[in-house]
Amino acid sequence: MTMRLLKLAVLISGTGTTLQNLIDHIRAGKLAAEICVVISSKTDAYGLVRAQQYGIPHHVVPRKNFADLSSFNKALHAVLSLYNPDLIILAGFLSLFHLEPGYKGKVLNIHPALIPAFCGKGYYGKRVHQAVLDYGVKISGCTVHFVDETYDTGPIILQSAVPVEENDTVETLAARVFHEECKLYPRAIQLYAEGRLRIEGRRVRILEKPEVEGR
Ligand code: GRF
Repeated sequence: MTMRLLKLAVLISGTGTTLQNLIDHIRAGKLAAEICVVISSKTDAYGLVRAQQYGIPHHVVPRKNFADLSSFNKALHAVLSLYNPDLIILAGFLSLFHLEPGYKGKVLNIHPALIPAFCGKGYYGKRVHQAVLDYGVKISGCTVHFVDETYDTGPIILQSAVPVEENDTVETLAARVFHEECKLYPRAIQLYAEGRLRIEGRRVRILEKPEVEGR
C-alpha cells in the first residue's frame, strides 16, 4: 500500500531552524510528508530564504501590517486555504494562531520547555531558557502539542526531558533542548501521518495501529 504524503504548511517568524530540520528529515526519507507552503509573519525571517533555497512556495503575511490579531489571522487563513494542507506546523511562529472551523486537531506546535511549566504568552525563544535557569529547576525539555485557542495549552502529544547542568547558560541549555526538538517534532508529525494520534479530552493516545486506513 502506498501512503499519500502528508501535506504540511509550516508557519514561521524567524530563523527557521525548525523548518530546516523538517526539510532535512523529509529529504532523508525519515518523514512521510511534503511541505506545500511556508508562511512567515515577518518579512525578514531567514526561514523564507531556506524555503526559497529548497523551492518551497512561501508567502509573507506581515503581522505588523494588521491592526489586530483577527484581521491578521483572516489574511493568514486566506493564504492557507490556497494550499489545502493536511496539517499546520507552527515552527517558531510568534503570533497567536486562530483555529478556524475545521482546524481543530490539525495544528501542531513545539515549545522548548516541559509544558505546563515556562509556557504561555511571552515565553518564547531565549526567554524560556532564561526563566528555566532563573527558577532553578533541574530538568527542562520540549513539548509537541495540538494547538487550541490559547498559547501552549492544547493536548500534549510528546515530551522529552533534558537535564539542566550546573554551568548552563541560556545558549548551552537551548542547544541541548533543540537537539531533542529535532527528534521530537518529526516523530510527532510521523505519528500524525500514520493516523496514530487520538485526542481524548486533554489526553492524546498514541495508538499501536493507525486510526484511519491509508494514513
Ligand atoms: C524552537 O526552539 C521552537 O521550540 C520554538 O521556536 C524555536 C525555533 O525557531 N517554537 P526557528 O525555527 O529557529 O525560527
